[in-house]
Amino acid sequence: MADPAPAPSVPVPEPVDVTMGLKGAMRRLPSGVAIVTALGEGKAPVGMAATSITSLTMDPPAVLVCVNQTAGIHAHLSPGCPVSINLLSRHQREVSAAFGGAVAREARFGVGQWTADPHGLPILEEAQANLSCTIESMTPFGTHSIVIARVKAVRLSDAVDPLIFQDGAYL
Ligand SMILES: Cc1cc2nc3c(=O)[nH]c(=O)nc-3n(C[C@H](O)[C@H](O)[C@H](O)COP(=O)(O)O)c2cc1C
Repeated sequence: MADPAPAPSVPVPEPVDVTMGLKGAMRRLPSGVAIVTALGEGKAPVGMAATSITSLTMDPPAVLVCVNQTAGIHAHLSPGCPVSINLLSRHQREVSAAFGGAVAREARFGVGQWTADPHGLPILEEAQANLSCTIESMTPFGTHSIVIARVKAVRLSDAVDPLIFQDGAYL
């Protein structure tokens, strides 16, 4: 008969409620922060902070971002629309906070240095990268839409020094 399994030296975590557990799991996943911008009513700029940017494919060059359907920007996103995805640098946590809801929608572009791309889309100076994209598709899932964006142009900073969000705080 086989020997009994040795007692584990590290206690096995108790199972937790799935929603609470998933929130806890995501707090343990460090993510880069981006500002997604688009054109709203009368071509006024709109934007929000997002950690859900994911590299999708290089051929075609595409990324995805998950956008809550209650976010102000959501009504202004649809296939064919231009969007700008600005990957934040470590010193841009104020921009993240502003576009995460700490500053009113219409006042957000007063935080950070913004210029316009050829479509008139706001792009953030001193970001790690500016991705100029066109929305390819939007798939609703639960509370969010999975937005697939085809990347048309990229601008890169010199140094790699991203803003990272982890456990509800910036690193
Ligand atoms: C660091 C950070 C990351 C976020 N990531 C996302 C995200 O990936 N998707 C999303 O829908 N909201 C995300 N949010 C929340 C939105 O930025 C926030 O709800 C924002 O206020 C929505 O825009 P609104 O105020 O114009 O509706 C994030 C917020 C922060 C601070």
